[in-house]
Amino acid sequence: MPEPGPDTELLRAAAREFLELFHTENPRAGAVGPRVAAVMREIDLTGTYWHTSEELTFGARVAWRNNERCIGRLYWHSLQVRDLRTVSDAGRVAAHCFDHLRLAHNGGKIRPMISVFAPETPYRPAPRIWNEQLIRYAGHALPDERVLGDPRYLAFTSGLIERGWQPPSSPGAFDVLPLVVETVEEGPQLFEVPAASIHEVPLRHPELAWFADLDLRWHAVPVISNNRLVIGGVSYPAAPFNGWYMGTEIGARNLGDSDRYALVPEVAERMGLDTSEETTLWRDRALVELNRAVLHSFRAQGVTITDHHTESRRFLTHLEREENAGRRCPTDWTWIVPPMSGSQTPVFHRHYDSSPQVPNFFTDPDATHRGLHGGPPAFR
Ligand code: ARG
Repeated sequence: MPEPGPDTELLRAAAREFLELFHTENPRAGAVGPRVAAVMREIDLTGTYWHTSEELTFGARVAWRNNERCIGRLYWHSLQVRDLRTVSDAGRVAAHCFDHLRLAHNGGKIRPMISVFAPETPYRPAPRIWNEQLIRYAGHALPDERVLGDPRYLAFTSGLIERGWQPPSSPGAFDVLPLVVETVEEGPQLFEVPAASIHEVPLRHPELAWFADLDLRWHAVPVISNNRLVIGGVSYPAAPFNGWYMGTEIGARNLGDSDRYALVPEVAERMGLDTSEETTLWRDRALVELNRAVLHSFRAQGVTITDHHTESRRFLTHLEREENAGRRCPTDWTWIVPPMSGSQTPVFHRHYDSSPQVPNFFTDPDATHRGLHGGPPAFR
């Protein structure tokens, strides 16, 4: 039996706080007293406790609502929660992740969704997913020091090759990396993502016909898979979740950043812009067309996407609703303001409450390291 230590005291306090929140916001769940008493007894006996499925669903939704980095929180209440807490071996975790990709894609009408796998407990650590997202593209080093694919995953890709992954015989710019799931018993295991779970959008520009020749695409569903969901003091390190994309994430950052696909100079060149001087604003002009191509292509393919102007307005609606409900809405300006035309969006022109709240999602440094370097393993 686990010793009652200071950790157990923290767990008790966090559990109590969460249960009070749950019962305040869900009056139909009845009085909080008996539930708190039961949970305290369970912590005495086991060193942890098991959320009811209603608590889990509510906790995951509130973790989204509390996440200071997300501009898309207006729809927090629509999050679909897959309760997979009895799933804890690598093969079944991976299989359910691949199901998640199909269910969330939903033929293009993307559903915000989270799959919650086995929690961290005093008697067994939870499984870990190494990848930052379920779908990520490999980075291949070329002889001339350039990178084919996503430079962000250069080290991750070579880490996986060392672990036995065979990259495609002719490497490309959009090779989907295998999923790495680690459990304490099995160590890191690699799983190829089945084609049926990979949904991508080929990128075209509404007017510039040559844009198609760049042969660009991006995956439809961003499923973050290395954050730790924390509800009432209980940690769920494997709890991949998704919303839908805001165009700038792909057009301005993934394809635009100079340490990612860095496509702005090539797009500017093909547009015939004068790149000899910064004052022509060729970077800004090319970036706009890159972003138009992303929004246009997703819409043309019937895949849910949003633009940064619409999403900024929705976020202010969300803030207003939270305020009316008497709740604080922790917000990080540096994450909320879109990476292009910031001052053209209303979210730029104000201050936010930034003090964090739980439940929430946490980005642990060791998880970040595994997601970028492919190791070291969590359990050794
Ligand atoms: N920025 C990340 C990417 O480009 C995705 C982060 C989550 N985004 C979202 N719309 N839920 O892949």
